[in-house]
Formats: sequence, C-alpha cells, structure tokens
Amino acid sequence: MQRVTEPELMNDLSQAMAYAEADFDEAHSRIVEAFGAYFPGVELAGNILDLGCGPGDISFRFAVRFPAISVIGVDGAAAMIELANQRKAREAMTGDRVSFIKGLIPGAAIPRISYAAIISNSLLHHLHDPRVLWETIARYAGADTLIFVADLLRPPGTAEARRLVDEYAAGESETLRRDFYNSLLAAFEPREVEAQLAAAGLEGLSVEVISDRHLVVHGIKG
Ligand SMILES: C[S@@+](CC[C@H](N)C(=O)[O-])C[C@H]1O[C@@H](n2cnc3c(N)ncnc32)[C@H](O)[C@@H]1O
Repeated sequence: MQRVTEPELMNDLSQAMAYAEADFDEAHSRIVEAFGAYFPGVELAGNILDLGCGPGDISFRFAVRFPAISVIGVDGAAAMIELANQRKAREAMTGDRVSFIKGLIPGAAIPRISYAAIISNSLLHHLHDPRVLWETIARYAGADTLIFVADLLRPPGTAEARRLVDEYAAGESETLRRDFYNSLLAAFEPREVEAQLAAAGLEGLSVEVISDRHLVVHGIKG
C-alpha cells in the first residue's frame, strides 16, 4: 500500500483535545518500558529532548520514571503546547523539570545543550519529509546520546488498517478513530525507515517491529 500523508501539525483544538483526552495509558507506559528494555540498566540523568511532544504525556512519564532528568518537549502545534503547559501546571510531581517549546521541526529554537537522550513518539508518520526528524536527531545528538523513536507501522492495506482501528480504538471518539486510521496510512514500513537512517548517516540505529502496529528505532549515533 502506498503511503498517504496526513497534515503535519495537530493544530486544530478539538483534534488536539481528543488526542490529549484519549486513553494512552497502556500504550505510553509500554513506550517507557521499551526504553528500559533497549537501554537496560540505564538510569537517565541530565537533559532529554522529546520531539513532537504533543500534549506531553510521554515527556511527563519519562520525568516521573527518571527523577534526575529535565525534559524539553518540542511541538509545532500551538494547541498541543497549550495543553502541555496546562498539564504542567497540574503536575506537581515533575515540577519545573518539564518544559515545552513551540516550534516547527526543522527550525525550532531547540537549545544546543548536551542531551542524555532524544526521544520521539508518533512524530515520524506526521512528517511529509521524514528526513526532518533524522537530520534533527543527527544535529542535536552527541556520541553518547541515547536515541529512541517509536512510531506506527504502515499496514499492508486499508482492510488491515480498519481492523487495527477496530481492535485498538474501539471505545474512542470518531475524531480519534479517524486520526488513527489516517496515521496508519501515513506511517512507514521498516525498510523505508532503514533507508531513511542510511541516508541521514544514522546506520548505527536499529529498527525493530515491536507489535502489529508499532516499530522502534533505537541506539546511538556513535
Ligand atoms: C501523534 S502526535 C504525538 C504526540 C506525543 N509524542 C505523544 O506520543 O503523545 C504528533 C505530534 O507531532 C507534531 N508535529 C508534527 N509535525 C511536526 C513538525 N514538523 N514539527 C514539530 N511538531 C510536529 C504534531 O503537532 C503532534 O502534536
């Protein structure tokens, strides 16, 4: 099945709110667990960059799991950054260790500091030109920066995409179900991601399929 792109930014407030209110508890807790599985024994400390952070759920989860980190989340959608900052005001546990920057990747005003890890969940499939993500990672990662990118996997056809929506988003709003379907069609296949990594000089990273709808890219730039 050919890739069908979707709008890059989730700028529409109702779309951003549907996303922020969706139940990603299981999926997102598995992202944090998967990070631990790919980097066993690592107790992260220092600065973490979360690219395409949306309303910040993954940023906050990492900040709770690793008390010695500070997370900078970056997203191009004003609606998402607004929701992320509203949540920050409610999250007493992580205090000032989580902050958000509104900015389009590439070009966002991301601080040039040393990052212990660069993480990203569900940004890649939004990008019309996927090089944007890999070039940003290559730019901001040092030799020891742990890189962890999770995203959807494009299914072989629309029937399988519909099946995945019915199986995993049965109780969700129509807005979220539509977004999930469109996102599956916009996602990449593992061999496409491998080609993107090679083109960006990131051959040190590995691509792994971790479920019927997710892949993970992990490793260090070297
Ligand atoms: C599906 S959401 C994922 C949010 C979050 N990472 C999570 O896992 O909950 C994708 C986010 O990427 C953002 N995005 C898409 N293209 C972007 C770009 N070029 N620069 C910055 N943010 C972008 C969208 O606005 C949206 O908030």
